[in-house]
Amino acid sequence: NKVAVLFGGLSAEREVALLSGRTVIKALLTAGYEVVELDLVDRSLLLPWLAEHKPDVVFPVLHGRMGEDGVLQGLLEWVGIPFVGSGVMGSAIAMDKLRSKMIFKTGGVPTPDFVVVRSQADALIHQARLCYPVFVKPVREGSSIGIGRADNQGEFMSAVTEALNHDTEVLVEQFVDGPEYTVGIIGAEVLPVIRLKPHARFYDYDAKYVSEDTEYHLPSGLSAELEGAVQAMSLMAFAALGCTGWGRVDLMMDGQGALQVLEVNTIPGMTDHSLVPKAASAYGWDLPELMHKLLATVK
Ligand code: DAL
Ligand code: MG
Repeated sequence: NKVAVLFGGLSAEREVALLSGRTVIKALLTAGYEVVELDLVDRSLLLPWLAEHKPDVVFPVLHGRMGEDGVLQGLLEWVGIPFVGSGVMGSAIAMDKLRSKMIFKTGGVPTPDFVVVRSQADALIHQARLCYPVFVKPVREGSSIGIGRADNQGEFMSAVTEALNHDTEVLVEQFVDGPEYTVGIIGAEVLPVIRLKPHARFYDYDAKYVSEDTEYHLPSGLSAELEGAVQAMSLMAFAALGCTGWGRVDLMMDGQGALQVLEVNTIPGMTDHSLVPKAASAYGWDLPELMHKLLATVK
């Protein structure tokens, strides 16, 4: 079985996707697969490279736009090469936090209240009416890049300016004052819940990849009943967006003990600081075993 790993790429999350790619390549080799790899820094190389190597399956390990957002998935469907992970629709919707939340709201998946701003003028309209704190997020970005927390109108206006540097649309999301959870989904299996406790104002880029202070609670400390509820809510969110194969759902629990889904990641981080490898390991799967499970999801 010849597996082509596409990694690195061109998005703001390139550095993360290089590390994720290295982890996946090493694990696939250990698991006994024949691996060809391409750091997708030059998009024009992809089609000739696929024609030359003729892989049985592609494993995209690219985070962010032009990799995780359905564009690459559409190209692979067009040329007829099977690949790991969600197809065009699930990838495109999950990359877009705004459309994801619109679907959650109408699909019975609880998610924090939100508004969208597309300009400073939009932000001025909203600034006096918001209930602070809020989170300000580029609509299509990952790894917390461009995200800010705003506790007042001044912070809100500067957070919007920053987020608009990363995307044309900005999501303004009600702050949830509770613990954060994340749940990996691999095929039909749901991994154990991880509870995150960043020693920062929120789980930002530094807390994700640099800091050694971020606390990961695995087991989560939830009762068996609540653990099951978090897992069931994660599956519901994943299915609501039309995601398939694998992914990771991020959630929070609010002050009333109610779960709120933040987002679904269709190509979750696979670095050595990342969450899916930790959860898989707690589930009894080392990285090579996780690779077997991931490739088994490919139709
Ligand atoms: N976007 C990063 C890689 C994650 O969700 O893990
Ligand atoms: Mg994300």
